[in-house]
Amino acid sequence: MRIVVTGGSGDLGSRVVRELRSQGHDAVPASRRTGLDLTTGTGLEAALAGAEAVVHCADDPSQKDTVTVYGTRRLADAAAARGVHLVHISIVGIDDFPMAYYRRKLRAEQGIADAGGPATVLRATQFHSLAAYFARTLTKGPLAFTVGDMALQPVDTDAVATRLAELATGPRPTAYARARDLAGPEVLPLADLARLVRAHRGASAPRVVRLPPVGRLLHAFSESRTVPAPGTADVAGRTFAAWLSSQPPRLTGR
Ligand SMILES: NC(=O)c1ccc[n+]([C@@H]2O[C@H](COP(=O)([O-])OP(=O)(O)OC[C@H]3O[C@@H](n4cnc5c(N)ncnc54)[C@H](OP(=O)(O)O)[C@@H]3O)[C@@H](O)[C@H]2O)c1
Repeated sequence: MRIVVTGGSGDLGSRVVRELRSQGHDAVPASRRTGLDLTTGTGLEAALAGAEAVVHCADDPSQKDTVTVYGTRRLADAAAARGVHLVHISIVGIDDFPMAYYRRKLRAEQGIADAGGPATVLRATQFHSLAAYFARTLTKGPLAFTVGDMALQPVDTDAVATRLAELATGPRPTAYARARDLAGPEVLPLADLARLVRAHRGASAPRVVRLPPVGRLLHAFSESRTVPAPGTADVAGRTFAAWLSSQPPRLTGR
């Protein structure tokens, strides 16, 4: 199958491209560096020509609505007009989460539904790399800060890529559909994430400082709303600790 992968040069998209090619598919990365700019629609016609499916991994949260909401709608409209199956990556727990980016991801999903074409939306939990970034950001010297019982159920990015590839090559829906949510194998309190990340670079366990959940955002995090309710998500991929052991001692990026 010819499958376009928007954001095919990014962290998730490059893994989707690799997975699809390993299965013998014609996976075509598309982003600004290949001539597709979702902020304007430049290159969209050419990118979708001859495609049976498009896996949408392109995003740029720094551009606020521009790529996340409007770029996704532009892509969804173009895919719907051509009958191309759009497979979109979204985030678990965004229905009622007071963070601007998560609200945009929800509007992106709504735009896909409104476009009316065959589409599958997969919501995944935070990738292991982002969970590690959270843990590093909330650790100051020997102190790890957390709010309430904040926990994540992070997932291996490779497992998300594998699922997106399955959805793109599997049965095609006739209209908008949500796939089952995807999460990693364990729920980890932020304090445990911080301990594992510090241990990974040879540092002692941090002292955990619990902050009061002041304000709506910290309250949402303290309630771990990004962790799927029991039984509502498929579980896949390596544990956070197994992923961490494959990383260099000095973690960078998200
Ligand atoms: N990180 C997580 O924990 C997590 C969890 C669940 C879901 N997700 C979702 O996963 C998706 C991918 O995340 P990622 O970490 O792989 O992102 P990433 O590494 O930052 O990659 C973003 C990609 O988007 C492309 N891009 C940016 N602006 C563009 C534009 N205007 N037009 C076309 N392409 C553009 C970039 O390529 P160029 O620079 O060449 O344009 C790049 O290939 C996002 O939708 C995110 O919401 C992430």
